[in-house]
Amino acid sequence: MSIQKRAVLFMSLYLSMAPWCMTPVQSQEMKQAGKPGLFSLGANRQVSIGSITADNFWLLDDASRYQEMYTREFNIVTPENQLKFRHIQPQRDVFTFAAADRHVRFAEQHDIAVHGHTLIWHRSLPEWLLESPLPRSDMIAIMNHHIDTVMGHYKGRIKIWDVVNEPITGKGKLRHTVWHDRIGEEYIELALRRARQADPSAKLLINDYNVATINRKSTKLYNLTKQLLERGVPLDGIGFQMHLSVHDGLDFESFSENLQRFSDLGLALFITELDVAIHTPVTTAKLQRQASLYRDIFLRLLSQKTVKSIQMWGFTDKYSWIDSHFPGHCCGLIYDKNWGKKLSYTAISEALVSEPQYFPQTVTLPAGSFDDAHGVDTDGAIVFNVDNGDWIQFNNVDLKNGFAKLRIRYGNGQLQPGNWRAEVRLDSPSGVEIAKIPIVPTGGWDVFRDKTATITGGSGRHTVYVVFKGDRGAGHFDWVRFEE
Ligand code: G3I
Repeated sequence: MSIQKRAVLFMSLYLSMAPWCMTPVQSQEMKQAGKPGLFSLGANRQVSIGSITADNFWLLDDASRYQEMYTREFNIVTPENQLKFRHIQPQRDVFTFAAADRHVRFAEQHDIAVHGHTLIWHRSLPEWLLESPLPRSDMIAIMNHHIDTVMGHYKGRIKIWDVVNEPITGKGKLRHTVWHDRIGEEYIELALRRARQADPSAKLLINDYNVATINRKSTKLYNLTKQLLERGVPLDGIGFQMHLSVHDGLDFESFSENLQRFSDLGLALFITELDVAIHTPVTTAKLQRQASLYRDIFLRLLSQKTVKSIQMWGFTDKYSWIDSHFPGHCCGLIYDKNWGKKLSYTAISEALVSEPQYFPQTVTLPAGSFDDAHGVDTDGAIVFNVDNGDWIQFNNVDLKNGFAKLRIRYGNGQLQPGNWRAEVRLDSPSGVEIAKIPIVPTGGWDVFRDKTATITGGSGRHTVYVVFKGDRGAGHFDWVRFEE
């Protein structure tokens, strides 16, 4: 049944119920049921809206309410845990699909899509896999067999898979996991290739946390993704988990910029695990801030056409991982513990029906993602040890119709005399200079500050060079951004 048909069915069901045969409570519930759920508000934006389904949700005390709310609000689901390795293959070669099947059947019965989470992850693994130090060939065989069997079981039914989950560390390195350490870093490529064979129609993702904005981790993911695609590895999209907190908020400019750079690689984007935790005690001000974050996140996501789904990691604070896993935090979702709609619910409803928003365009070139360099050192996220004339190169940068301002973020503790500057030049290190930014001390090598300059030209696609000029000691360079 189509999304529109489901919304119409809710409405006609509501209208066909004679008010005289209902109690006020039933009547109220039916009125609510007649209101369109979040998924139907988002229908004309062509984005699916969803949540997880809790483990054994059919056994909850309020199971029928849980399911009724779910089917009203959402059109995509991720089983929270019961598709994970330790649940599906608790003993070697023994596959237990019964619980996961119930999540999938529930979804199918209500015309809800299923997002599969997850095939290859370093957590939620069974003891048998962790205990014995299996050789590389065994690990590859286990990985292949798991992917073949699980994707085969749900072939054509689970259409999106988090094939590899959380492969990168906060420092922007590949994570040492049982898969990485026993197979080697090619485990990611092997898993994706195998997944494509197992179900050629499924969308294959890498899913990770703390990758929503531009930082070391997302830049490593970006570089990894780019390399995989260049080698023809089947990767269709990125899952951005987005476990956020009211306290930390989100750098929205960096968020949009980051989504754009992944989109520019031709990938589809999936928001897979959104929640916005509150540091206890909960106050009205924090709930308002939470709502405003949800609204702004949705507005940004809805303005980005490559975003295919927005899923929250739960929908009621009654059933959420936050309280048990994140001490001192709670209440990151859109319904409260008594099933009341929170301000966050209203905020995202409003965002879903609002006119599409325009956000100022920017293009960010992170230091860690250059395509070629001369004379600089890098730790994968920042560039340092630059000498007079050193440069870094970014290929195929789309300057669109031209930008007005250039912003550079850098740290410099002990600038030595020498008229230090970063010059931005097009198409060669000595090509046309479109901006020049003086670099001045920021108070420490790790104290990053932004400085802006006017751009004097450049539009369309170019190879962009950031050329450092002056005597030794220009500090740490983080990124350069073109702004309207
Ligand atoms: O299965 C055992 C059960 O046998 C036992 O009785 C019970 C007692 O505590 O524990 C059960 O295991 C729990 C498991 O969820 C249920 O499958 C673990 O203790 C618990 O730590 C585990 O937590 C899950 C966690 O992932 C680890 O798999 C959370 O519910 C789940 O919300 C969380 O989800 C992750 C995503 O998969 C990846 N991204 C981050 C996100 C939040 O941490």
